[in-house]
Amino acid sequence: MPAPLFYLLRRFAPMNGFLGTRASLMLDVVFLAMFAVVPILGWSIYLVRIKQNYLLHKRVQVTLSLVLLVAVTLFEIDMRFITGWESAAEKSPYYASGLVWNALKVHLVFAVTTACIWTLVVIRALRNIPSPPGPSPHSDWHKRWAWIAALDMLGTAVTGWVFYYLAFVAT
Ligand code: HEM
Repeated sequence: MPAPLFYLLRRFAPMNGFLGTRASLMLDVVFLAMFAVVPILGWSIYLVRIKQNYLLHKRVQVTLSLVLLVAVTLFEIDMRFITGWESAAEKSPYYASGLVWNALKVHLVFAVTTACIWTLVVIRALRNIPSPPGPSPHSDWHKRWAWIAALDMLGTAVTGWVFYYLAFVAT
């Protein structure tokens, strides 16, 4: 990772978030970002399914994937090596019973499977769907797994919001 980026992360990430909860800046950014990711994904599926606008669907999905890759990498570095989340979550009434940890485990199942399936769907689409994009012999595979990836992403968002509430909002 480039040194200036690491410096910026170490300098700003441990700051308090802007939503007025116990969460750090990065947690607030990701929590809010998921409220944008879900409608953008819905719009992209509408574009391809209803409007048959294959090219815009491709552009939206590739851009979303790149933005998510950068955001998730920065988020993981911050959670694992810089700010973490547990000291803020310990103040939750649900921490001692283990509910916060259980909510995180459920969320991680969704997040990890989404990352794997999503990566596969994008790489296989870029390799097998012709350019400019449109219906092809890869369509059946793409439709099945892309729907699974999309619903998995929705599950990641919902379980992430539940975890955020239990860990950083509940008093
Ligand atoms: C993870 C990323 C992606 C997701 C979640 C996704 C999602 C979807 C979904 C749910 C459909 C089916 C819509 C329906 O029910 O009719 C679809 C169709 C399609 N997608 Fe994607 N997509 C992704 C990436 C891509 C990429 C990168 C391309 C281009 C290279 C692409 C090109 C297409 C095309 C051409 C169709 C129409 C297939 C047909 O109707 O024959 N998609 N996508």
